[in-house]
Amino acid sequence: MHGFTQYTPTRIIFGKATQKQAGELAKRFGATKVFVVYGGGSVVRSGLLDQVTASLQEAGLDYMTIGGVKPNPRLSFAREAVKKSIEFGTDFVLAVGGGSVIDTSKAVAHGTANPETDIWEFWSKKQTVTKSLPVGVVLTLAAAGSETSDSAVLTNEDTKIKRGLSTDFNRPAFAIMNPELTYTLPKYQVGCGVVDIMMHTLDRYFTQTENNELTDEIAEGLLRTVIRNGAVAIKDSHDYNAMSEIMWAGSLSHNGITGLGAEKDFAVHQLGHELSAKFDIAHGASLSTVWGAWAAYVYDAKPARFAQYARRVWNVEEADDVKAAQEGIKKTVAYFASLDMPTSFSKATEIGLKTDEEVKKMAHGCSYEGTRTIGSFKVCDENDIYEIYKLVFEKLFNCFRWIFCWVIRKFLAEVFLFR
Ligand code: NZQ
Ligand code: ZN
Repeated sequence: MHGFTQYTPTRIIFGKATQKQAGELAKRFGATKVFVVYGGGSVVRSGLLDQVTASLQEAGLDYMTIGGVKPNPRLSFAREAVKKSIEFGTDFVLAVGGGSVIDTSKAVAHGTANPETDIWEFWSKKQTVTKSLPVGVVLTLAAAGSETSDSAVLTNEDTKIKRGLSTDFNRPAFAIMNPELTYTLPKYQVGCGVVDIMMHTLDRYFTQTENNELTDEIAEGLLRTVIRNGAVAIKDSHDYNAMSEIMWAGSLSHNGITGLGAEKDFAVHQLGHELSAKFDIAHGASLSTVWGAWAAYVYDAKPARFAQYARRVWNVEEADDVKAAQEGIKKTVAYFASLDMPTSFSKATEIGLKTDEEVKKMAHGCSYEGTRTIGSFKVCDENDIYEIYKLVFEKLFNCFRWIFCWVIRKFLAEVFLFR
């Protein structure tokens, strides 16, 4: 186990009707003027926004609301929100929504506290965040884990670049988590959420570090729990127990605990961000699209690690490490498909990538024009990234080939058997 620092200051308030405590909690963290951020309208339709603002009023807090955050949140919207927040005199930002709303709220907090700095300077790593405002969260979607994470992700729509920013200033002051608030989620978002939660642990789990027993057990337990309850939640988003397990797992999966004592990989997230930036694909769907190809490309860097995953998470009984590893990869991809999540470019983008040139361009973008590598389990440069994207791409051809063969076989059977 390597040395580590763990800092998770977020106060978590979990359970039914907890959204009614939003005002009191904000006040406890020094709020007087609260800037409330929400998304495309789900919280208006469900009545949650009214409940939250009523709670702010009861606590005697002045507030201003701003809606319209889109999934894969845009830099331009965040910049506009910063302007409004500065005019309002915000001293506390309250996010009511999922990861996109929370990340925009974090951007608003940094931008309001640093009015002289354009917020993209932080995301492009030209400036460091040294002060910010506190952010509170009322969570409506278990997925990104932003409610406790140190990260925030924005998309610069002019350059089609999606970037994450990690800083302790991104850790929210509190997170209100009522699983009932997720009942209104469309099935697709439940699926995206389950994949993302699994991926925050998987992107930490595949490591070259040995002897990290407790962290491994936590990660494997979390994965088994999410897999089991994800299968229930995808059929019934009103199952309180399943939605509770998933919601709690969402926070634990990305607050750092499932990777303590080991180096992080996060290659799959980087591969997925490039897809989301170029095609505006939902984050979870981008991850299910690339994971199988990434795993197939890297597992031989340490088959024993993938075999451990297969045996402990998927109950694979195969004694041979390589075969067990392959079985675990197959089961994971099949699970994503059972959630109706895409596992190929064509399914993720509807159009698919058409040319090899496009695949190369994606690899170039993901490697920041060839200036960085991704991952640590197997360090991947631009060429590796290209090979991984090609594997996802080739699955499409394999699929066409399989359909073609099936049609030919059927045709021949008709001709020769029924003549
Ligand atoms: O906008 P509204 O109308 O609210 O609808 C949203 C949105 O369309 C809907 N939704 C959310 N809660 C709902 C609901 N619909 C009905 N009922 C509810 N209770 O779901 C859609 C997706 O919302 P979004 O916030 O985009 O999803 P998610 O939470 O998956 O966040 C994705 C974003 O977070 C980033 C991703 O890259 C992506 O931009 N991530 C942030 C991380 C972090 N800050 O730590 C880490 C992650 O790896 C991830 O990169
Ligand atoms: Zn993620």
